[in-house]
Amino acid sequence: MRMVDIITKKRDGKQLSEEEIRFYVNGYVKGEIPDYQISALNMAIVFKGMNKEEICVLTDAMEHSGDTIDLSQIKGVKVDKHSTGGVGDKTSLVLGPLVASCGAKLAKMSGRGLGHTGGTLDKLESIPGMSVAISGERFIKQVQEVGMAIVGQTANLVPADKKMYALRDVTGTVESIPLIASSIMSKKLASGSDTILLDVKFGSGAFMKNIDDAKSLAKTMVEIGDGLHRDTRAIITDMTQPLGLAIGNNLEVKEAINTLHGNGPKDFVELCLRAGSIMLEQAKICKNEGEARKLLQQKIDSGEAFEKLCQFVEAQGGDVSYIRHPEKFEISSIIKDVVSEKEGYVSEINCLEIGESAMRLGAGRATMDDVIDMSAGIVLNKKVGDFVQKGEVLCKIYTNVKENESILKDIHDSFKITTNKIDVAPIVHDYIK
Ligand code: URA
Repeated sequence: MRMVDIITKKRDGKQLSEEEIRFYVNGYVKGEIPDYQISALNMAIVFKGMNKEEICVLTDAMEHSGDTIDLSQIKGVKVDKHSTGGVGDKTSLVLGPLVASCGAKLAKMSGRGLGHTGGTLDKLESIPGMSVAISGERFIKQVQEVGMAIVGQTANLVPADKKMYALRDVTGTVESIPLIASSIMSKKLASGSDTILLDVKFGSGAFMKNIDDAKSLAKTMVEIGDGLHRDTRAIITDMTQPLGLAIGNNLEVKEAINTLHGNGPKDFVELCLRAGSIMLEQAKICKNEGEARKLLQQKIDSGEAFEKLCQFVEAQGGDVSYIRHPEKFEISSIIKDVVSEKEGYVSEINCLEIGESAMRLGAGRATMDDVIDMSAGIVLNKKVGDFVQKGEVLCKIYTNVKENESILKDIHDSFKITTNKIDVAPIVHDYIK
């Protein structure tokens, strides 16, 4: 088999066979096929696409390019969720303890933040002592005993994706549904859970800028999961404005704690309850979403979900006193208000702009080597649809960056105020199963 024939076949819009797909994935991982041929093929896939059969084989070949995690020792249904990423997305910090307190087992591998999006691992590491690099043995024991663990990806999980993604990043081949779907799903499948819930976000702060692209990506990933016999479902959720109120690592952990105490922002609570209900249905703990929602609410009201967060933090070496007394978290040296210059309804909060501004305040990384300021970020006082008076606070910024005037101006300008009342779209736009 010759790589050049595979490239020209795809260039001409033809379907690749299973043998051809496995040949190029395995050959690339072994270093037998050079970057330039894989980038030419990826560019052909960007333009000509792949059908369902090809995408399933590609995902399967990538999933088995390295280690796969065996969770069979853990009793009960192992559930997983994945978000395509956004601004203020601290969902796993609430959803994990919520579903674990209901008896589901969450064995989750998460990622770090880059650019305008945050990452669960960084948020967890804002809790002093918290480790996200525990051994495989300890990971399994913890999920068994506590009901949940969230760690970084092991080194040899889907090496095909590590190599391929780095190449796509510098060859203009990230934006392709077959390539994104196989990249995400190969990692989720290799992580070994019985069920997967995908939170596919759309909007200025998301990877997919419009709803239609988000739906196509979600449908493709659900088809891959079904094709490879894993219960996979997806929700399509709004990232046209930040999720909840807090953006920035320890600020988001504090919001997660408040939410588990029953005091979360409306959109964030709704997302957690909806996603949690679907996960409990997938885990066969509840018969339907209505029953699941009641159970989740009960776990918040009784404090059991909050206690589960404490157990999880303690198991991974974190200092639980910060969870019980969030006032202990470090606070930035500079706190400033961003105020509205006019009266009206907030019609838009540019999510990409807010995410990038939070990064410039110290909350995120421009490159993987940057060091994060765990206390930096933004806390919104107003969301889309809210009425604001002239001079009223739109949001507060937390930073240790002294020269922050231009960042403040960009944050101010990312709020659009109109005289008309605004209809607020629901946080969960669609559900695909
Ligand atoms: N996230 C991934 O893991 N892979 C992609 O291709 C895009 C986003």
